[in-house]
This record gives sequence, C-alpha cells and structure tokens, in this order.
Amino acid sequence: MSKTYEALLKLERQQAAHKKGRVLSKEPHHERYIGRVPVDNLIVKQDSILAEQFRKLQTIVVSHNITQPLRSIVVTSCIPEEGKTYVALNLSAAIARGLDDSAILIDADLRKKTLSSRLGLQNILGLSEVLEQRATIEETLVHTEFEALTILPAGASPPNPAELIASTRMQRLIEQLEASHKDSYIIIDSTPIAATSEAAALSQMTDGVIVVIMADKTRRDVVRRELKTIASEKILGVVLNCAEFETSGYYHKYYKSYYGKKQK
Ligand SMILES: Nc1ncnc2c1ncn2[C@@H]1O[C@H](COP(=O)(O)OP(=O)(O)OP(=O)(O)O)[C@@H](O)[C@H]1O
Ligand SMILES: [Mg+2]
Repeated sequence: MSKTYEALLKLERQQAAHKKGRVLSKEPHHERYIGRVPVDNLIVKQDSILAEQFRKLQTIVVSHNITQPLRSIVVTSCIPEEGKTYVALNLSAAIARGLDDSAILIDADLRKKTLSSRLGLQNILGLSEVLEQRATIEETLVHTEFEALTILPAGASPPNPAELIASTRMQRLIEQLEASHKDSYIIIDSTPIAATSEAAALSQMTDGVIVVIMADKTRRDVVRRELKTIASEKILGVVLNCAEFETSGYYHKYYKSYYGKKQK
C-alpha cells in the first residue's frame, strides 16, 4: 500500500469518526471526544419533584457564601453505592440549567469510572492522561448537549489511582480549571471515604464536600467514624438519598402545579 493511499485512508477514517462525534487520536484505545455528548436521559426530568430538590441543592451551593463563593466541590459518601455519581451529575445539570452559571463535572473515580461509562466516555482521554501529563486539560474536556455543562472523563484506568488523585498535579488541575473557567463550578465525583483515600485528599484541594448518605443503608456510627477523615469546616452538607418524603396531600399538589406550570 502506498504512503499516499494509507494517508488518504487515515483521513477518511478520521472524517467518518468526526461525523460520529469522535476523532481518532494517537492513543489506540483512548480517543479525544469531539462534539456534544447527550446527558438528558441520565438526569432527572426538569419538571419533576426530584429536579426541584436538585435546584434547592444548587441554590445552597451557589449562594453558600457570597463574600467567598465556593468554586470546587467534591461529592463523596461513606460507603460505596450511596448515589455519589447520581448526585454529582444531577447537581451539575441543575447548575447548568440555571441562567447564570456553568459546571465542569470531573470523574475522579479512576477505579470504577462509572460516570464516564454511563455517558459512553470510558474510552475517551481524561483525567488520568492529564495527571500523567499525556494530554492537556483542554484536550480532555467533553462538551455536552447542555451548553453550560462540561465533563472531564476519567480516562484510562491507572495502576495508582490514589497517588494520582492525591498529587499536586491534581491540585494544580483544579486551580487551572478555576482560573480558566471563572463562571464555572467544578464538581468532582469521587470514591467513597471508607474504602479509599481519594475523597479525603480531594477535600483538602477543594472548597467543600457534599456527603451523600443512602437512607436506611448506612449506619450512623459508620457515618460518624468516616466523616472524621474530612475536616468538618469543609463539609457543606449531607444529601439524604432515596429518603421517603410526603408525596400526597395539599402541599404536594401546590408544589407540583406551581412548579409544573411555571416551566411550560
Ligand atoms: N435518588 C436516586 N433515585 C434513583 N436511582 C438512584 C438514586 N440514587 C442512586 N441511584 C441509582 O443507584 C445506583 C448507585 O448510584 P451511584 O452509582 O450514583 O452510586 P455511587 O455512590 O456513585 O456508587 P460507587 O460507590 O460505585 O461510585 C445507580 O444505579 C443509580 O442510578
Ligand atoms: Mg460513583
């Protein structure tokens, strides 16, 4: 095969990939994502009661401290599968749906990479490559169908996730994002406190921590013990996930119709 023919084939492949939303990179398995990734099917419906709860959480974050606003927030939990990724994504979407702010959501769970897989971004250049200095931040940011929501996927699974996340490179990455995206909140989806050291490390690099607790799952003494590894002044609050709340009666009707009508 001649070199010219090879080059033409490569160009054709790249153009086809570009049309589908992806551009092949030098990495065989990890590509740069070009285009806008859909997120709408993964987040709560805009006129739902849950969306209203996330708007409340967004308001708490956005108006937390006017003199020294929060810019970077870690979402963690005491034990696995309490809903961190779910809360991080929906909080970021609520910020992005607002009129004033943007969100950059980082998949800092380099072990499970759940956020990246849910978005179909598991083979995309991401945080690992930036921390290993094999890609720039701008190369790894993925735009979504929401103008104001950007994702930094996890990237390849590294052998040393805890070291990478605890590194000064990670701290610098957060600082660089804060400096280059001044209207953005940096939301970081992390690993659980009990099983890993990443959440505690990230809590020291960021302005605040949201702790997700799955209702009726995590024992009180476990919560008390695990939260000791996070400086108390960094804890912004707790999201009690999947808690049952009043869904009938006058308040609910008022709540639903008021917000439902407004959004149409
Ligand atoms: N409030 C909720 N309503 C409906 N489904 C939820 C809710 N919270 C979490 N889930 C579901 O529960 C499962 C676990 O949630 P998620 O992956 O967000 O937890 P996690 O804490 O990030 O887990 P991990 O420790 O593995 O990272 C997912 O299937 C998610 O969609
Ligand atoms: Mg998760």
